[in-house]
Amino acid sequence: MRGRFLVIEGVDGSGKSTLARHLVEQLAAAGHEPLHIREPGTTQIGERVRDLLLASDREPMDSRSEALLFFTSRNELLRKEIEPALAAGRPVICERFTPSTLAYQGQEDASAEFILALDQLVVAPEVQPDLVLILDLEPSVSLARAETRSTPDAFEARGIGFLEAVRAGYLKYAAARPELTALMDVHDSSPSEVLEQALEHLKALNLP
Ligand code: TYD
Repeated sequence: MRGRFLVIEGVDGSGKSTLARHLVEQLAAAGHEPLHIREPGTTQIGERVRDLLLASDREPMDSRSEALLFFTSRNELLRKEIEPALAAGRPVICERFTPSTLAYQGQEDASAEFILALDQLVVAPEVQPDLVLILDLEPSVSLARAETRSTPDAFEARGIGFLEAVRAGYLKYAAARPELTALMDVHDSSPSEVLEQALEHLKALNLP
């Protein structure tokens, strides 16, 4: 049987990596061999594209050029890691995927259409995510959390107004796809409570 494809989304500082790590532990304990990956990156080309996109000193790029680069990293990841893992029956946990591109690069209607068209071309129907968990957090809270960890990347450096639009993009994505998404309010949740909530949603996929 094909593996299940789970995507974790949310602004920086919302707890994606922590949740991904905890889910990997749960799945492994139940006898699965989960693949844990992140976007952009994981493959060698993906990491190089990541360095280019996230450099805080780069010149501004058209949002479609950014989207094309994110899809370059995504295509490499799909062909080299995601498709083989799903075909081998392994669950895949990916931090960020097309919903990130819609939320960050697709804030204008024309860019969103461009991104949805790219998604149709690059992501075959059988490798579309089975579930998108969105960790919802106000940017003022997420920025404060993220600031204690690292210097802001090219996107975080755009400030709170941009991140508020990113959050709105996620909410819009979830509202348009209720059967695919689980919107999780993580303002007052501990990491173990977030894990509990996520495991409830995974039951629909017969996981762990
Ligand atoms: P990363 O450090 O991986 O994520 P996080 O900050 O959540 O730990 O940074 C990835 C950055 O790239 C983040 O600011 C969001 C941005 N991004 C996009 O703008 N579009 C995309 O399609 C993806 C995958 C990420």
